Amino acid sequence: MELTDKTAEQIQQTAQMGEGKSYFLYTFGCQMNEHDSEVIAGILESTGFTAAAGPEEADLIVINTCAVRKKPEEKVGALLGTLQPLKEKKKDLCIAVGGCMTQQEEIAAYIKKRFPHVNLVFGTHSLPRFPQLLERAMLSRKTVVDIEEYADSREDLPISRRDKFKAWLPVIYGCNNFCSYCIVPYVRGRERSRPMKEILAEARSLAREGYLELTLLGQNVNSYGQDLPEGHDFADLLRELNKVEGLRRIRFMTSHPKDLSPGLIDVVARGEKICEHFHLPVQSGSNRILKLMNRRYTRERYLELVRSIKEKIPGAAVTSDIIVGFPGETKEDFQDTLDLVKEARFDNAFTFIYSPRPGTKAAQMEDAVPRAQKEERLQRLAEIQHGISQEINAELVGKVVEVLVEGRSKNNPEMLTGRTRTNKLVHFASPEDLTGRLLPVKIIEARTWNLIGEMVSGEETV
Ligand code: 5AD
Ligand code: SF4
Repeated sequence: MELTDKTAEQIQQTAQMGEGKSYFLYTFGCQMNEHDSEVIAGILESTGFTAAAGPEEADLIVINTCAVRKKPEEKVGALLGTLQPLKEKKKDLCIAVGGCMTQQEEIAAYIKKRFPHVNLVFGTHSLPRFPQLLERAMLSRKTVVDIEEYADSREDLPISRRDKFKAWLPVIYGCNNFCSYCIVPYVRGRERSRPMKEILAEARSLAREGYLELTLLGQNVNSYGQDLPEGHDFADLLRELNKVEGLRRIRFMTSHPKDLSPGLIDVVARGEKICEHFHLPVQSGSNRILKLMNRRYTRERYLELVRSIKEKIPGAAVTSDIIVGFPGETKEDFQDTLDLVKEARFDNAFTFIYSPRPGTKAAQMEDAVPRAQKEERLQRLAEIQHGISQEINAELVGKVVEVLVEGRSKNNPEMLTGRTRTNKLVHFASPEDLTGRLLPVKIIEARTWNLIGEMVSGEETV
């Protein structure tokens, strides 16, 4: 792990902080949070901490939280409760809670009051200050709280990556869209694109280290560059990344339908490293609900986009996020969603019951749909989508696909697990551990959630 001067200087003050100590990290939520946790781990390791096998062994427990729905917030509450006896047994244990949930003032205050055994409460903008905050928290008897909204550059922070062959690469932080149900713009702030030269430098350095796959991250990658003076957009960035030697796959998420340009679809079609997968959340198929959600596109425009993607890029995968039970969603609105799902034919869709988030516009709307009805709608939607996923996967049987091997299957140690360029999970038998390799695999069976394959030959596609 290379450190630049600025980070080295910051960390110098706290250089001994973690000597002889270990940490355990819990991460909730999205890929951006997973990557933030890699940064937290990087910071901790550069101050001497080592990773602990479990929370009982750790001197420091960090919880990186998610606020997008109520469930992950409840899980954090429950987790904090279970950590209390651990802290009583081990007085020196330091507990830090941070991320999207604690960025909300009321929640930070609640945690401080309700869980006095927590040493540090930090927000989404605190990472550059993390070493100093942690040092203060370890010395102080009171809970240290830092949920300031100013953020120093994150460019120089160390990163301890989970994988050796695929890496997350944030390209834009925050969100400007204010979809009426969503807490993200409140907890992650306005859009901040990373300068293109920083992203390219990181991509080149990862390629030199042997990374084959990058996933570009942003709440809305399509608005990349709009806040930069250079005038580059996301298509420009992809075009440049496609030239980076050594890289084999470039993924990106999430795309917002209102900003996905025809030019971008062309770049994906042409760029041989750019994976043909669009995660393009539709949220609802009803124009009335889309308007209430402040999504700024219609179902017709959305379906047109999906058609255009599939026309220009045969075999491309489109996945989506869908919310059921938005305030005032009628039977007809829900039927519109079902019809859209049948027409769009998503490879996969993540389906959620609407969860009111305090402080958002939708939380003030009258929510008259009973819970049981929301659950029934979720069930019906999921059933239809599962059938479609199964049908689309079945079309791959007999075909040879390129798989990047991620490791042994969790359920069956004789099988390896990897992903296709279209982000589908493939399991196949192999006595040899081929983790981190790109291999041709023939699909022999299709399931709803994954595919079963067999190795075509020992030949790598690298
Ligand atoms: N309730 C339910 N689902 C939500 N999402 C975002 N906010 C909410 C909410 N309040 C879903 C959206 C988004 C995904 C990451 O989470 O579908 O695309
Ligand atoms: Fe939330 Fe909408 Fe921004 Fe996505 S685009 S993070 S759903 S506000």
